Amino acid sequence: MAILLAGGAGYIGTHTAVEFINAGYEVVIADNLYNSKAEAVRRVEKITGKSVPFYQIDVSDAEALRTLFSEQNIDTVVHFAGMKAVGESVAKPMMYYRNNLNTTLTLLEVMKDFDCHRFVFSSSATVYGFSNPVPLFETMPRGECTNPYGWTKWMIEQILMDACAADPELSVVLLRYFNPIGAHESGLIGEDPQGTPNNIFPYITQVAVGRRPQLTVFGNDYDTVDGTGVRDYIHVVDLAKGHVAAVPYAEKHTGAEIINLGTGRGTSVLEMIAAFERVNGVKIPYVIGARRAGDLAESYANADKAKEVLGWTAEKTIEDMCRDGYRWQTMNPMGYPEG
Ligand code: NAD
Ligand code: UFG
Repeated sequence: MAILLAGGAGYIGTHTAVEFINAGYEVVIADNLYNSKAEAVRRVEKITGKSVPFYQIDVSDAEALRTLFSEQNIDTVVHFAGMKAVGESVAKPMMYYRNNLNTTLTLLEVMKDFDCHRFVFSSSATVYGFSNPVPLFETMPRGECTNPYGWTKWMIEQILMDACAADPELSVVLLRYFNPIGAHESGLIGEDPQGTPNNIFPYITQVAVGRRPQLTVFGNDYDTVDGTGVRDYIHVVDLAKGHVAAVPYAEKHTGAEIINLGTGRGTSVLEMIAAFERVNGVKIPYVIGARRAGDLAESYANADKAKEVLGWTAEKTIEDMCRDGYRWQTMNPMGYPEG
């Protein structure tokens, strides 16, 4: 039996592939390479010494997915395949709704035809919206999202809960990621955003290697420890291990279960810059700019449920994240090569 990683050539998918293989699972990757490169899959093979079946397909293409399912013995799907740029989703909402919803619907339909009943989904802390106080608990109501990307996560959560209500055999784990950063310690795989990074960490690593002159800090007048935004940064390898822990849990349960994947600790933008400079011995020039529309002052998880039900806790520190993320960027200053 094998685990299908839909969108598995991307940042989180490649790290998760490595951890599944290390834990003894067979994995199959399906990705249309919309936001990734085939080289990333080859790097997974290099790290693990195992060959990984790779299907370059759009997972909303039901026929292509049926071919995959008929050739591979899939018993669990982990669904990473989505578009994730918040600003772009505001400019191109239809593209985001079509891609993110259709990939999910097609996966669910084809899984049912092939008697596959376990589904792990990449959700996001963004579904907590603006009104919930920190720390964020899974039991809190979902809030209003500020952009179509966030709404796709919100809607997919609803689709998956409805699908479970209708199908007593279906088991869904909704993993709400906080802020994944860093890279595998080999430096062979990491985050490779196309164009200007939207997120702070790849921006910092690109400043560190001289690809960009300076970071703009989006506001220093929030009601936080030093006025800058606070987030729950989680090492991508810890996050990947959270998926490995979710699979035996999904085997034991049916229905939809929501689980935060975070550390439970908040770090401000200025604290992140200071940690990065200290650990790596590099200077990160920055200027203070205006607040970014739609940003929260603080977002961090209560991480107790993952510990209780999955037996999983994040282990790596902010220093580990800074060290490993910088190693990836220095070894691959322009990201993955083409092809
Ligand atoms: P990523 O862009 O690196 O990976 C997503 C992968 O999905 C890419 O390789 C892309 O080519 C592929 N893909 C997109 N549409 C596809 C389609 N129709 N068919 C096949 N492949 C398709 O992003 P990531 O950071 O690895 O994120 C993975 C998932 O986690 C996404 O769903 C994202 O929304 C979610 N998530 C990410 C973060 C984060 O900060 N990185 C936070 C919360 C949730
Ligand atoms: N920030 C800067 N400068 C930058 C980029 C970000 O100061 O150039 C600040 C932001 O204002 C925020 C913090 O750094 O305070 C983190 O910002 P990111 O963009 O890295 O992360 P967000 O928490 O805003 O967004 C992330 C994901 C979204 C997801 C959201 C909630 O990118 O997809 O978490 O889960 F919706």
